[in-house]
Amino acid sequence: MNTTRVTIDPSFRIAEADRQLFGSFVEHMGRCVYGGIFDPGHPEADSLGLRQDVLRLTRELGVTVVRYPGGNFVSGYRWEDGVGPTGDRPRRLDLAWKSIETNAFGLNEFMTWAQAAGVEPMMAVNLGTRGVQEACDLLEYANHPGGTYFADLRRKHGVDAPYGIRLWCLGNELDGPWQVGHKTATEYGRLAAETARAMKLIDPRISLVACGSSNRSMPTFAGWEATVLEHVYEHVDYISAHTYYDPSDGDRASILASAVDMDAFINDVVATADHVAAKHRHRRRLKISFDEWNVWYQQRLQGDLDRRGWVEAPALIEDTFTATDAVVVGDLLITLLRHADRVGVACQAQLVNVIAPIRTVSGRPAWRQSIFHPFALTSRYARGTVLRTEPDGPTHDTARYGEVSSVDLVAVHDEEPGALAVFAVNRGGDDLTLDLDLRGFPALTGAEHVALDASSESNTTNHPDRVIPQARPRPVVDAGRSSVRLRAASWNLIRYTPSRSD
Ligand code: AHR
Repeated sequence: MNTTRVTIDPSFRIAEADRQLFGSFVEHMGRCVYGGIFDPGHPEADSLGLRQDVLRLTRELGVTVVRYPGGNFVSGYRWEDGVGPTGDRPRRLDLAWKSIETNAFGLNEFMTWAQAAGVEPMMAVNLGTRGVQEACDLLEYANHPGGTYFADLRRKHGVDAPYGIRLWCLGNELDGPWQVGHKTATEYGRLAAETARAMKLIDPRISLVACGSSNRSMPTFAGWEATVLEHVYEHVDYISAHTYYDPSDGDRASILASAVDMDAFINDVVATADHVAAKHRHRRRLKISFDEWNVWYQQRLQGDLDRRGWVEAPALIEDTFTATDAVVVGDLLITLLRHADRVGVACQAQLVNVIAPIRTVSGRPAWRQSIFHPFALTSRYARGTVLRTEPDGPTHDTARYGEVSSVDLVAVHDEEPGALAVFAVNRGGDDLTLDLDLRGFPALTGAEHVALDASSESNTTNHPDRVIPQARPRPVVDAGRSSVRLRAASWNLIRYTPSRSD
């Protein structure tokens, strides 16, 4: 059998695995909010309409940060519509998703939900149809203690203490011609810089994310980042990146290798940001906020939009994910972790129903899609220091990315209690042996190996547990070496814990 060899050593330190890498995204899109996290008629809804089954699954997923309220939606959103007495809130056209927005759910409902879910909010401001003033008004409403118009309006709305929201996105995908209020890099860069300066005058503790490209294949990619950063570098903390991988063409070898593209994307954005830093003698290095990423059967979107007129909360891109998609998601998480020194925030898009790990139908319990499982296990066990690894082993060919390494992996060392978690994907078509040299960890013993094999199987409302990770034989450590079988096209979590000294 083919073998991939890797040495893992505690001194090969990349960075701490930031908990913010396990973010998600709630957009006013389709049934993510309405019928998703908020569903007043549902038997599991509390008195505010928040679905408790969805909240339980959100906590189980291990989500740490949630971006809100968009997405393309935010580029036409008036945040004031979503606060104050519900009966007074206007119904509006949402141009991004050709929907009617009732505004029954807004900032204060989201903050109540976020507190119940135990997640940190990441708020986006509208820099599509709006600008500096409205972003400042929103920040004042959210974070200023009182004694001014918008802070007192929040208090009038029943929220006495300021929220202290720390993470803010300066608009969404404004490089995209589909975006309401689409801009050139110079137009956006100027607006983002002025908005950032003003927002930091109101609350200097906030962290700001400037919009990078909507994906790496945009014709303006890299030039967009360079121009935007010329304007905003000193005012922001992150530059965003978005990417979705589409399995629609059925090319399984290529979709399984999607992380190759994400890896190159991160390297390109880092190089571009560092070029601007070098040119302007900035000592501070920017991080990436990878605030939209996932698998997405994108060819279905146009059909969803074409089939209807203006309606409330239509079902949009409710993709049913396969076990193969879950393996891809596991590998994308491996890639994000491996770049923990330069990726500071990451949000899987989206949380519920819309290309999501959690699905709902009206009146019935929520369920976990296949992609739920690698996310939940990675969030649970990728704690501590990410270690550099150089796998040496077989490669195979893919139509989209050429020759790729069959094994992709990352190791995370939790110094207290001294545990080691190895996340590994075999992207190839043959079973492999993974030979780990663990002599740098003399006291480790094998704890567990769980794995998920790629297939066309999916979870559904009637079969919610068809795709779940399976236990494999417990790994053995012998003279500092551990040999593990990685089945063809599989995602794997291999854990080692300290040997008992008694
Ligand atoms: O997540 C779905 C959409 O994808 C978001 O609204 C947009 O930002 C991206 O293009």
